[in-house]
Amino acid sequence: MLRTHTCGELRIKDTGKEVTLCGWLQRARDLGGMTFIDLRDRYGITQLAFNMNTNKTLCTQARELGREYVLQITGKVTERSNKNPKMLTGDIEIIVSEVKVLNKAQTPPFTIEEDTDGGDELRMKYRYLDIRREVVRRNLELRHRMALETRKYLHDQQFIEVETPVLIKSTPEGARDFMVPSRMHAGQFYALPQSPQTFKQLLMVGGLDRYFQIVKCFRDEDLRADRQPEFTQIDCEMSFVTRDDVLETFEGLAKHLFKSVKGVDHVEFNRISYQDAMRFYGTDKPDTRFGMRFEELNELTKDKGFKVFDNAELVVGICTEGCAEYSRKQLDALTEWVQRPQIGAKGLVYVKYNPDGSFKSSVDKFFKQEQLKSWADVFSARPGDLLLILAGDTDATRKALGELRLEMGRRLELRDPDMYACLWVTDFPLLEWDEETQRFYAMHHPFTSPIREDIPLLDKDPGKVRANAYDMVINGVEIGGGSIRIFDRPLQEKMFEVLGFTPKEAQNQFGFLMQAFQFGAPPHGGVAFGFDRWCALFGGSETIRDYIAFPKNNAGRDVMIDSPSPVAPEQLKELHLKLITHNS
Ligand code: AMO
Repeated sequence: MLRTHTCGELRIKDTGKEVTLCGWLQRARDLGGMTFIDLRDRYGITQLAFNMNTNKTLCTQARELGREYVLQITGKVTERSNKNPKMLTGDIEIIVSEVKVLNKAQTPPFTIEEDTDGGDELRMKYRYLDIRREVVRRNLELRHRMALETRKYLHDQQFIEVETPVLIKSTPEGARDFMVPSRMHAGQFYALPQSPQTFKQLLMVGGLDRYFQIVKCFRDEDLRADRQPEFTQIDCEMSFVTRDDVLETFEGLAKHLFKSVKGVDHVEFNRISYQDAMRFYGTDKPDTRFGMRFEELNELTKDKGFKVFDNAELVVGICTEGCAEYSRKQLDALTEWVQRPQIGAKGLVYVKYNPDGSFKSSVDKFFKQEQLKSWADVFSARPGDLLLILAGDTDATRKALGELRLEMGRRLELRDPDMYACLWVTDFPLLEWDEETQRFYAMHHPFTSPIREDIPLLDKDPGKVRANAYDMVINGVEIGGGSIRIFDRPLQEKMFEVLGFTPKEAQNQFGFLMQAFQFGAPPHGGVAFGFDRWCALFGGSETIRDYIAFPKNNAGRDVMIDSPSPVAPEQLKELHLKLITHNS
């Protein structure tokens, strides 16, 4: 080893020891007779001291060293006169006797410290320098611990990790595939997996019983803070299980991760059906760290002469505690907020339950005090509270109120970052109708089993069929999703038919799976977790990029290696491809 200790290791008890450290020069300070250098490595920072009076040559040499030079130093551990309680090594410094420059460095394009002056794009371009920063390193360490503890837990539960191929054929998970042209087979393409879904099911047919994999998945979709074109799943599948077995097994995983990684002991999981989630929170991933559940007011508001309510399919609201004091200006601002195109509400009705017990609302012309009181009672509102009410088509109104609920939760600081509200959302619809293409799509994927008693509806009213599918939601983030699968050929064929596949198309795309089902497929089910999302949640961030060593930017580019990028004409030729530009 080139070093005897790391830069995060030495303490007061080591005083007097002769040590050798290696690391990067983070910062140097010349104070007349003394020069101090902060030497950094992965483990921390240690202060080096050079004394002009006792070793002039060395001190002069130290003053010539630049930021991010890679150094090997030898010296004696000494108690500091000016201790720094904020640093773990803050009680000591090294009186250096020898310095070796292992490598020089150009001045970095941004300061490599906790608070950096580097913008996002610059840090991504020099991500290897960004990774030297403690915040980024900590995120990657958290990710490592999460992976390690996941493997420990699943191994203890008899799961085995199996790798599945990356050059496959398209799996329909709802996004676009990334395609890889084949050199050896002109005009043919591999697809990168959107998930290992079909392979894990085949592993169950293979009798492996409990599979998992921490695996890269690829989806060519619009990017957001919680979406990357390549991301990682904890992908799992189990045989001979019911839905509740799966939910319990993975509640176990969540509890293990909470305890071992976050030190959180008590985590409760609640369950809510998709239908209730939409009805009470307007979303299939409710943040249940706070209440503010929806109440519907159709019955109480009907036929009172207020057209907006009379013509609405749904009149629904939330009660915001203690907000009756909102000024006219604040209420106008909220109205504008819900009217933004992203939220899309036409307007906002408010009812102030004044501290003196009276009511003031934006619809006073149409509703009397007793009527407003009866609304307030539905919410169990108290004097001082404010009701916010939206009206319109059911789905759009619920969605808009769901956004308003989150916004009010944020404004009222009800979304406590140190609290974890864990939820399984169950009984999703199996199918979603698409107006544009006039056909059904699988809400989850085509291998999801319908709930048994709904199977007869597949012919009569496919839109009403519930899926035996579930999502894990923590603090309003969809951490994972899965389902009990179809495992017999006739039902799988039926599902493809409902999805508009001809028997030939189904055979072409999924013949291998349906054939496997004829060789003794066990009943099975599973789940996949967004590993990056889970890391971000535990790290207290909404951006999964912070937890990925080399992420893509918002435009899907890796600005460091400059990818995607054009390839040489010979390469295209070899792949039997011809570039077509938009003008040609
Ligand atoms: P699903 O498509 O719900 O299910 O994906 C599972 C989880 O993966 C995460 N996720 C993503 N994370 C980052 N970037 C993305 N682009 C991205 N897309 C999805 C989410 C999501 O909950 N094969 C099924 C699972 C199964 O049925 O077992 C599947 O992939 O956290």
